[in-house]
Amino acid sequence: MKALTTCFALLALVQYVSAQTWYFLTFTTPAGSYISSYTGSFVAPPLPQAATYYLWPGLQPPDNAGVLQPVLDGRSGTWWIGDGWCCANPSLAWGSGFNVANGQTVNFGMKVNSIQSGTWATTLSSSGGGSATGSFPLPTHPMNQAIMAIELYDVAWTFGQFAFSNVVIVANTTSTAWCTNGPSNYQNAAVVTKSTPVATVSGGQTTCKIASIILVRPA
Ligand SMILES: *[C@@H]1O[C@H](CO)[C@@H](O)[C@H](O)[C@H]1NC(C)=O
Repeated sequence: MKALTTCFALLALVQYVSAQTWYFLTFTTPAGSYISSYTGSFVAPPLPQAATYYLWPGLQPPDNAGVLQPVLDGRSGTWWIGDGWCCANPSLAWGSGFNVANGQTVNFGMKVNSIQSGTWATTLSSSGGGSATGSFPLPTHPMNQAIMAIELYDVAWTFGQFAFSNVVIVANTTSTAWCTNGPSNYQNAAVVTKSTPVATVSGGQTTCKIASIILVRPA
């Protein structure tokens, strides 16, 4: 729900913001290349209680100005998911969403019509029949980071694994190391299991496929 830059800034200033806990993985494309599509699926873990659990895949631009993200939100005591651009510049309305039962699979998509003109189309659907779409004009924010995050406030990671499958990231680069060597694991805070990312280069673009990537538990 927060762009990761905010977290870094706060951590740099005051160490006692430990009520907020982060676990996240990041695929970062080489300088000057950008992501045009990020799709995949994840399973909603059992929600332990009504509390601020934010679980999400998301995209960030190089300046970390914000994050485009479908957020699985546990505050009501039932998971809810919707897409949004957090948190400002431009200020855009949060998209529509739906409830997700524990154990249901959510399919997500974020695709930009043109890296330059930058309107992102978002799609969400679940194995429970929920679906939602959104449109986010972000022309000044080409994206270079594809993230998988667990963001917690005053609660611990006790819900078990956060498992992604069939993840596909497309970027306009012919380099592949960002895919095959990725992702980075913030502070090595999470135990991660993953299949080997597979990169395919065609037409000046790299398609990065990760069949399975799981944030298993706190390290
Ligand atoms: C990727 O696309 C952007 C926007 O069109 C362009 O500025 C950039 O040069 C492209 N990068 C590569 C490596 O092709």
